[in-house]
Amino acid sequence: MGKVDDIVIVGVGAMGKGIAQVCLLAGYNVTLMDIEAKIIENAISYIEKGLNKLEKKGKLPEEMKSADILAKMKKTTNLIEAVQDADFVIEAIIEKLDAKRKVCSDIIDNSPDHCIFASNTSSIRITDIAEGCGKPENVIGMHFFNPAPLMRLIEIIAGEKSSKKAMNIGVEVGESLPCLRGDRYVPRVLKDNPGFIVNRVLAPGRIYSDYIYDLADEKGIPWEQVDADISDPAAPMSTLVLADFVGRDVSLHTAEYYRETLSSDFKPGKVLKRQVVEGKLGKKTGQGFYNWSKGRPEPDLSKKAGIVNQLVFKAIQANEGCRILEEGVCKSWKVIDEAILAGMNFPGPMKSATKNYRQMAELLEEYSEKLGKSYLKPVELLKSGKFIDME
Ligand code: 3HC
Repeated sequence: MGKVDDIVIVGVGAMGKGIAQVCLLAGYNVTLMDIEAKIIENAISYIEKGLNKLEKKGKLPEEMKSADILAKMKKTTNLIEAVQDADFVIEAIIEKLDAKRKVCSDIIDNSPDHCIFASNTSSIRITDIAEGCGKPENVIGMHFFNPAPLMRLIEIIAGEKSSKKAMNIGVEVGESLPCLRGDRYVPRVLKDNPGFIVNRVLAPGRIYSDYIYDLADEKGIPWEQVDADISDPAAPMSTLVLADFVGRDVSLHTAEYYRETLSSDFKPGKVLKRQVVEGKLGKKTGQGFYNWSKGRPEPDLSKKAGIVNQLVFKAIQANEGCRILEEGVCKSWKVIDEAILAGMNFPGPMKSATKNYRQMAELLEEYSEKLGKSYLKPVELLKSGKFIDME
């Protein structure tokens, strides 16, 4: 197995800064690279604050001091310089295929032969990112969940040409990164596909939620009431707070990508498109569904709009879970539930589907008609309940 000492994080915005922090905590030499010096400075202050806090709480790895860890950190705005001695590069730049493909190619061309390129894309196929680069066997996916220091899941994804060695190194690095809340869960995604496991299973839910947002917008229903309706009571953040937290631009880019790669039924809704045009991207711009100027919003969820059927979301998710089992993305419905719990902190749909699959299939027939979206029709594995045997 190749030894990894030097890790470079390319793109140190919302996701990259958290990834950089956990790499430092694991003891690696870490270079922060971004084209904007201001973003690097923000990342450094986030990391310093986080490490100092851990030091005060006595939660740093044994015998380590915040200052010693920070001494292993370098920064640069020059990509080529950043990667010339790198063993492992994690890319967390904008969620656009062209940009990721170019960065992948530049890094593979300018780093040592053994260097692994890991993309933290949310949903783009790794095979597409690696296309045209000199060593696609060295390219893998490494999908973190936001915030990376607190969310346990890291999906390791094999592109069609990724080598076994690159995958093994990816898993080994992923498992070495500490999580501030519980143990890491680092599943292998066995087949490259848009969205991998968690985002893929949750993806078609956006067909229903975009329908709800547009309906609420037409009827002038306040977002808090929609949020009260749409949120899973078991989730740690309400759905609309989470949507703002992730970023409406990220949602739009992924919706467009799913529309191209999965089905035209993923066409983004009117509200989503308008939010992006108006720069209402959520936390990062201070306004999305909610205003973030005073920190994380705490919406009053006591009044419901009465326009959402919660079981439809679970049915859509369970159906997509069955679809990826059919495709061979993973082998067991338990992996799906475990990944969703580790990446989103709420329970996955599959266990409840083992009891409710018939009702879910009927509901999906009804809603696929109602919304005019054939992608929501139940797949064979759900209808027959045969997925239950795939433990
Ligand atoms: N370094 C050191 N300490 C940190 C830290 C850091 N980087 N970040 C947080 N902490 C500390 C905090 O200071 C706090 O310490 P305290 O208890 O002493 O005050 C402690 O860790 C807990 O932090 P929070 O108070 O912020 O934690 P919460 O209890 O509010 O939980 C949360 C935060 C875990 C983010 C929870 O709200 C949650 O689970 N939300 C859902 C997030 C989610 O769903 N993420 C996935 C999004 S989708 C995605 O990422 C996929 C992608 O493809 C788009």
